[in-house]
Amino acid sequence: MKLLIIGSGGREHAIAKNLLASPKVTDVYCAKGNPGMKNDGIQLVDIAEDDHANLITFAKEKGIAWTFVGPEVPLLNGIVDDFQAAGLDVFGPNKAAAMIEGSKEFAKKIMVDNQIPTADYEAFTDYEAACAYVKEKGAPIVIKADGLAAGKGVTVAMTLEEALQALKEMMTDHRFGESGDKVVVEEFLAGEEFSLLAFVKNEKVYPMVISQDHKRAYDNDEGPNTGGMGAYSPVPQISAAMVDTAVEKILKAAALGMMKNGTPFTGILYAGLIATEDGPKVIEFNARFGDPETQVVLPRLTSDLAQIIDDLLNDREPDLTWSEQASVGVVVAAEGYPNSYQKGMAIPTFNEQVNVYYAGVTDDQGTTKASGGRVLLVEAEAKTIEAAQKKVYSALEAVDTTGYFYRKDIGAKSFK
Ligand code: AMP
Ligand code: GLY
Repeated sequence: MKLLIIGSGGREHAIAKNLLASPKVTDVYCAKGNPGMKNDGIQLVDIAEDDHANLITFAKEKGIAWTFVGPEVPLLNGIVDDFQAAGLDVFGPNKAAAMIEGSKEFAKKIMVDNQIPTADYEAFTDYEAACAYVKEKGAPIVIKADGLAAGKGVTVAMTLEEALQALKEMMTDHRFGESGDKVVVEEFLAGEEFSLLAFVKNEKVYPMVISQDHKRAYDNDEGPNTGGMGAYSPVPQISAAMVDTAVEKILKAAALGMMKNGTPFTGILYAGLIATEDGPKVIEFNARFGDPETQVVLPRLTSDLAQIIDDLLNDREPDLTWSEQASVGVVVAAEGYPNSYQKGMAIPTFNEQVNVYYAGVTDDQGTTKASGGRVLLVEAEAKTIEAAQKKVYSALEAVDTTGYFYRKDIGAKSFK
């Protein structure tokens, strides 16, 4: 099979590398991909993610067996609908189903209708009404822009002032553009976070092993929220019972709820969860693989990813098996990220004990240089989280990381 991946980050690098390892797969193309992917034999396609017509032409000309969509933006732009209308196989939710990520209010409706545990909330388009509600509820409280905001549209306000400031920025200063015209005000949930992803085909749900992201920029969960600074899997402090409850009451209920809603979901369903005293509760659904969760979850998959997706597309039962090994992935970001950051740094060469997944890199006259906020992720597997951490951090300490920064505590929560 020849396969096409849409996207260009570390997540897509991990997906493409894993797919290419399948004995069934001869070629993996990535649009647009990034030059770091070429090290792993992935072929780059210079067609933009939103140029559906040319992507469709490419898939037909190359005889692509099926296409996999990495990021949320093309899903919400209806790339799956367009490929299907052109008679092409593609794995991912259509535009209507991707709304589970594209609108927090849509997601909340699915949750409420299906008794899926989540924080209490209220949606507002009126600024004064939102302020009045926040004053009535008090802090801590969570303010979210309704639409997509690249992981930055959420304020966990520990004081009333912070909450009102966030409402002002979103609703009257339009900091996130149209995404903030509607806001969701949500109850603050206390507990440890984890990410539970699954392959979904209509009502059928095949869960993956869980992982934990680190959203804050700096050690000890300090600093601004980012797209994610590192992840690890498994997450031993989250009990198997907690995960089982989440699979039944959250993932399976969501898949069924989407069917009942007339928006059946096929693709990767991602539940961002908080393990509260009352069990798992949803903080968000995403309609795709997580980044950086994918870079630590897929290395633990011992069955064939290409076979799994091919089985799901053809209504066969997929075979999912996982290794007992632990995986740790640390993001190397450009100094300054998530605000304005440095560019143009050289890319370090890491030892062979680790895997490197590239994201914010570009080709500068034949040399790969840093160009984005999250530049790359260094991942390793070992018997324990501690041993995997050691491999990653010794690889990082052995190279020059001038112009970059990374968190030194990825995985540390599992020892507390
Ligand atoms: P989101 O973009 O919805 O994943 O939110 C970003 C981060 O804000 C999450 O990873 C959590 O750390 C935090 N967060 C979101 N919703 C809540 C909530 N209801 N209670 C506590 N923390 C939250
Ligand atoms: N790591 C969080 C996300 O992919 O949304």
